[in-house]
Amino acid sequence: MIFLATIFLSLLSFTKASSTFSPARPPAQPLAVKSPYLSAWQSAGSDGGNGGYLAGQWPTFWAGQILGWTGLINVDGATYSWMGAPLYVPTVDQISYSYTSTSSVYVLSVEGKVQITATFLSPITPDDFQRQSLIFSYLNVEVVSLDGGEHDVQLYTDISAEWVSGDRNTIAQWDYGTSGSLSYHKVYRQTQLAFSEISDQTEYGNWWYSTTTDNGYTYEAGIDVDVRAQFGNHSTLSDSVNTDYRAINSNWPVFAHAFDLGSVGTRSTSRLFSIGLTQEDAIQYDGANGVVPLPSLWKQYFDDEISAVSFFQNDYETASELSSALDRQVQSDSAAISNDYATLTTLSLRQAYGATQLVGTNETQYVFLKEISSDGNVNTVDVIFPAHPAYLYTNPRFLKLLLAPLFENQEAGQYPNRWSMHDLGSHYPNATGHTDGNDEQMPLEECGDMLIMSLAYYLASKDIDFLNSNYKLLDQWTQFLVDEALYPANQISTDDFAGSLANQTNLAVKGMIGIKAMSVIASATGDSSSASNYSSIASDYITQWQTLGINSAANPPHATLAYGSDDTWGLLYNLFGDKELGLNLVPQSVYDMQSDFYQTVNAQYGVPLDTRHSYTKADWEAWVASISNETTRDMFYSDLAKWINETPTNHALSDLYDTVSGDYPDGIFFINRPVMGGVFAQLVLDMGLSP
Ligand SMILES: *[C@@H]1O[C@H](CO)[C@@H](O)[C@H](O)[C@H]1NC(C)=O
Ligand SMILES: *[C@@H]1O[C@H](CO)[C@@H](O)[C@H](O)[C@H]1NC(C)=O
Ligand SMILES: *[C@@H]1O[C@H](CO)[C@@H](O)[C@H](O)[C@H]1NC(C)=O
Ligand SMILES: *[C@@H]1O[C@H](CO)[C@@H](O)[C@H](O)[C@H]1NC(C)=O
Ligand SMILES: *[C@@H]1O[C@H](CO)[C@@H](O)[C@H](O)[C@H]1NC(C)=O
Ligand SMILES: *[C@@H]1O[C@H](CO)[C@@H](O)[C@H](O)[C@H]1NC(C)=O
Repeated sequence: MIFLATIFLSLLSFTKASSTFSPARPPAQPLAVKSPYLSAWQSAGSDGGNGGYLAGQWPTFWAGQILGWTGLINVDGATYSWMGAPLYVPTVDQISYSYTSTSSVYVLSVEGKVQITATFLSPITPDDFQRQSLIFSYLNVEVVSLDGGEHDVQLYTDISAEWVSGDRNTIAQWDYGTSGSLSYHKVYRQTQLAFSEISDQTEYGNWWYSTTTDNGYTYEAGIDVDVRAQFGNHSTLSDSVNTDYRAINSNWPVFAHAFDLGSVGTRSTSRLFSIGLTQEDAIQYDGANGVVPLPSLWKQYFDDEISAVSFFQNDYETASELSSALDRQVQSDSAAISNDYATLTTLSLRQAYGATQLVGTNETQYVFLKEISSDGNVNTVDVIFPAHPAYLYTNPRFLKLLLAPLFENQEAGQYPNRWSMHDLGSHYPNATGHTDGNDEQMPLEECGDMLIMSLAYYLASKDIDFLNSNYKLLDQWTQFLVDEALYPANQISTDDFAGSLANQTNLAVKGMIGIKAMSVIASATGDSSSASNYSSIASDYITQWQTLGINSAANPPHATLAYGSDDTWGLLYNLFGDKELGLNLVPQSVYDMQSDFYQTVNAQYGVPLDTRHSYTKADWEAWVASISNETTRDMFYSDLAKWINETPTNHALSDLYDTVSGDYPDGIFFINRPVMGGVFAQLVLDMGLSP
């Protein structure tokens, strides 16, 4: 089988013109990635992807199900497909694929006659909440002559109803409408299921596929093969809507826009499309006043859905400028470290933001985050923690708004345990808490995470009110750490898939850094006696920890995975908090020792997470890299960049992979998790936070 597959693949690559990929060929290419529900990708890795080509394969939702999204073009009377897999027409050739932090750009050639540049822009505007609150993404298609001649060109694109439900037997309904120059198809689930998901797709709200009308515009909603054949044979659509509302998979209804571009020469012409979701209410939330629905934040800025859709469609110029400015910032800050590092950050930013959503009102705003793929939990503390460098670097306030609902719920007495809760609800979008205290328990992990992130936010913002209003809870968690951090009980850490363990060296150091963080918080808020008490406890613990958790007789010496297990080791990523916050709790000699040690245990695609398995975590590798010496740092980043280019995984960036094969470890598929925001750790250190 393997032999046959190899022959087949090489035949394919022989017959197909090959594309370049810059700065890398990611396992899946982000197309429209803006929220847990607007998350469309093009699968590339060899486990099932086509190598990274826009044509010849359907885009998929992050969880793998097909999202019909088609591009056709007629050039001098012949039809070709440039996106998706309507198999009856030839595909265009792909010249290049490139990505930035906010866009994916495909350059395509139609028989060397006409060039198509398809730009998928998912804007990220960290401190412009009006724009960030819109769950929409652009597709801009530019066409120009490649051979210098004039060509007769018509452009076509459609979406299927697969976007509106995770169950393909669900009945969809639709409308076509206009508002000024806006033309839209609105598609939705006929029976709305509020706050529900099927296969991680949302089951309520309205989907919009829009364009700006121009000369030669036509539209149609109907049966997929009929609508596409209409375009292929007649070069225009029928301006009609088939209203036989039916199941998504029954004669597959599609929603199409077409433009007759006329004669296209060396002067390019472009058409703009946008795709997105509106939901009036976004989250069910157990805050201070019991469970209430929270509205999507875009509702504060727009009177109705059409105004929001219209604004987005007409905002391309500004959205592009803002996104390009962010692209340039991430690129230049990252390239100052290395090009390999920039490969990581630019691919991860959309994924980090794409798990979040702005909700609430102008008075009370929140950010909610879905623990995508691993379990769907809401605002999981130990998922926000690895991801938080991306938010801290782009806008510290975003981090505050992620933490806010966790504090509010617990301060209202909705969580009975003395340690921090793990998450705010078992499944997005129900942030209904855990009044019974039976969440997945990682007590030491979450207390340390909350303290470290709270101080990080304060140091970046100087928002003393935040510390004052949450002081009591922060102090309660610190007391828990004082009791538990020196000799951690048998428990799981955030790496729960690796199993539970007593006396975890890495978990202990997080607790100690958390106690030290609280001493800075106490000092900032004027509680000087607690400040000195916690500071001396943290120092005392760290001194003991250097004996308990380090095998100094080994050659080379290294921290152990658990106290007294001399032959074990792991990525000591929790040291990052000490450097991030400028605490100087842990002696530099420990960093140097670890940095030297990692060089001796590096595998094909990186350093394993610990001695129990050959897999690793990309986010934690990046944390460790940021606090290692430059040689070790570059080793980590170059292995990660190599892994991105070569991994056979074919879904949105996994944070968990095997360091030898580069594939998913047996049976664990982590896909599209926001924790990849952890690659921004290095840029957070560049912020130079200190008490
Ligand atoms: C959220 O809660 C509602 C009931 O309020 C339920 O119908 C829905 O299925 C839940 N959603 C998820 C994703 O569990
Ligand atoms: C023209 O129409 C026929 C019949 O509907 C269809 O099979 C064919 O694919 C169409 N041609 C193109 C180029 O779309
Ligand atoms: C919310 O604030 C924005 C300005 O930041 C303003 O344009 C909008 O009207 C406000 N919305 C409401 C409902 O007050
Ligand atoms: C220091 O803090 C610990 C833990 O909260 C507490 O038990 C102890 O009494 C405190 N010591 C002083 C001197 O305040
Ligand atoms: C943790 O380590 C200490 C010191 O080696 C030991 O006394 C204790 O039993 C260990 N805890 C557990 C739960 O194994
Ligand atoms: C980093 O540490 C390694 C191992 O000790 C050493 O070989 C290398 O020269 C160091 N690199 C830098 C830039 O100091």
